[in-house]
Amino acid sequence: MTEDPLASNLANWESRVPVHVASDAYDLDRFVTDPHHLSGVVRDDAAALGDLTGSRVAHLQCHIGTDTVSLARLGAEVVGLDFSPSALLVARDLAARAGADARFIEADVRHAAAALGTGYDLVYTTVGVVGWVPSMAAWADQVASLLAPGGRLYLRDAHPMLLTLDETREDQRLVVTHPYFGDGRPQRWEDETSYTGDASAISSPVHYEWHHPLSEIVQAVLDAGLRLTRFVEQDTLDWAFAPWMETDGHGRYRLPEHQRPLVPTQFTLEAVAPDGSERAGG
Ligand SMILES: C[S@@+](CC[C@H](N)C(=O)[O-])C[C@H]1O[C@@H](n2cnc3c(N)ncnc32)[C@H](O)[C@@H]1O
Repeated sequence: MTEDPLASNLANWESRVPVHVASDAYDLDRFVTDPHHLSGVVRDDAAALGDLTGSRVAHLQCHIGTDTVSLARLGAEVVGLDFSPSALLVARDLAARAGADARFIEADVRHAAAALGTGYDLVYTTVGVVGWVPSMAAWADQVASLLAPGGRLYLRDAHPMLLTLDETREDQRLVVTHPYFGDGRPQRWEDETSYTGDASAISSPVHYEWHHPLSEIVQAVLDAGLRLTRFVEQDTLDWAFAPWMETDGHGRYRLPEHQRPLVPTQFTLEAVAPDGSERAGG
């Protein structure tokens, strides 16, 4: 029987939720006991995001809500979107226990604008998002529809060049093994455990990911009518892509020093929607 990639991915994410809820990597209780606690992901982005007080924020692929709650704590009026009902159950409970004003909507990110409406000041989507999206062009159109005039996209994720490497090599060499240029078809993976590093097995290990080269991501954003305002390649990552990456003990990982100049591990892209004074072609 042929597997449906999206259905496999949904089952896979549903089965990761209980593992992540119990994981020190997400540390859910910390959001409840410390009213100022931010996820490591949002803490790293806070300076670039600036003051979010009163901003309407759409958080795409929000998972169990740790970043969504953190955006609310930066002052945002935030709504998280995810296709996993189990993740959203946890996210809603987390927001209530943490006293954070955040809403959550269950929808496929491919239909984000229909689910969330329009007029957002910020679309925020980070750390493990791009690979689950079949078409970056269609995704960027959704983002453009969500944004108010002058609204901003903030995207941060693993660098596609890093994802071409074989992370299982015992000699820890950086060897290109997977194609950099995607062919539109997803790669099938079967991982018994999740990226949090916990030993617990996930019950639906099969998932599919689409590889999108940087040029495809950037061009999709430009073709959707957004103006690129910031693009950086970085040497940190929020999970251990390879077991020999070094951690700072606060959820940040880097390749060993001698490998850092060889390949970027992450990129951040910011872009803005036309504000009405900018006319297409003029
Ligand atoms: C790695 S997590 C998001 C990362 C977030 N930074 C975090 O760690 O909490 C990826 C999320 O994408 C969601 N997802 C995957 N495919 C999706 C789709 N087609 N539509 C909506 N959500 C999707 C999954 O359910 C999961 O919650």
